[in-house]
Amino acid sequence: MSNSLALRRRTFLNFSLLGAAVSAALPVKAFSQETAANISFLAPTAENPIRINFNENALGMSPSAQAAARDAVAKGNRYAKAEITQLHGKLCDMYKVPKNFLLLTDGSSEGIRALMGAYSRLPKVQLVIPELTYGDGEHFANLYNVPVVKVPMLADWKVDVAGLKKAVDGFDGFSIVYFVNPNNPTSTVTPASEIEPWVKSKPDNTLFIADEAYAEYVSDPKFKSMAGLIQDGLDNVVLLKTFSKLYAMAGMRVGFAVGAPSIIKMMKDQVAGEKLNYPGVTAALVSLDDEPFQAYSRASNLESRKI
Ligand SMILES: Cc1ncc(COP(=O)(O)O)c(C=O)c1O
Repeated sequence: MSNSLALRRRTFLNFSLLGAAVSAALPVKAFSQETAANISFLAPTAENPIRINFNENALGMSPSAQAAARDAVAKGNRYAKAEITQLHGKLCDMYKVPKNFLLLTDGSSEGIRALMGAYSRLPKVQLVIPELTYGDGEHFANLYNVPVVKVPMLADWKVDVAGLKKAVDGFDGFSIVYFVNPNNPTSTVTPASEIEPWVKSKPDNTLFIADEAYAEYVSDPKFKSMAGLIQDGLDNVVLLKTFSKLYAMAGMRVGFAVGAPSIIKMMKDQVAGEKLNYPGVTAALVSLDDEPFQAYSRASNLESRKI
């Protein structure tokens, strides 16, 4: 296994998803126990254990999403054109952005790859990351020959925003800052007050990738999604989201990117288009409306973190 792959799959315990793993058996009032008991998923065994280091949601997909995915299999001979358009529109409504601000991707890792592929074409470019973070940024940077600068963590595994900034300021090319908030594998939240002023200052030749795969689990009021900055018109930041975590859909491969049309266009040129699989798209559509399951997913995670 390559180092970067090892980092992606490394065995740091991410407390947020560890929580989900522990909580599969916990009663959570927000979701009826009866319904929770009806969620079907692959039960862990010694040969097939829960892979905490993959940060999979161990609750299983919501029953409504599972039913939608099953129904979609019967339509698998067709392209999911109408449903893809519907999902795209629904997410644009949710994020209050026009249609050309969003790209559906095959999980958020496809978004990371597309960004790295697009920006690696610039004449001089570096990727700046915290020393401990999700490994796909580094993995795809290596693939596209983009040099990677790692900034050591602060005490308590916090992200050193000033250190990231120093690495950008000292470089005379283009910098991609890959910023996972809350961070994986450290579970730390970087307060908006630390990162927003930097993004808003619009440093020359800098793109911020805000990977908010775990944002729905955050209860720390100092956290704020970067979506607001994109809605305010900033074109130096792109948000990456996934259905793999809160919605327990890792195997369905649905994610999306939100950003200024100039960035989305560059990403689009790196992918085959929004050609997502039928069960994944229909499960995603249903999951967005399944608020009881979302509450259950959040609450069981919180409960487990306390344990
Ligand atoms: C921070 C972060 N971003 C992205 C991903 C990739 O998720 P996806 O399944 O959407 O490709 C993960 C998966 O663990 C992750 O932890």
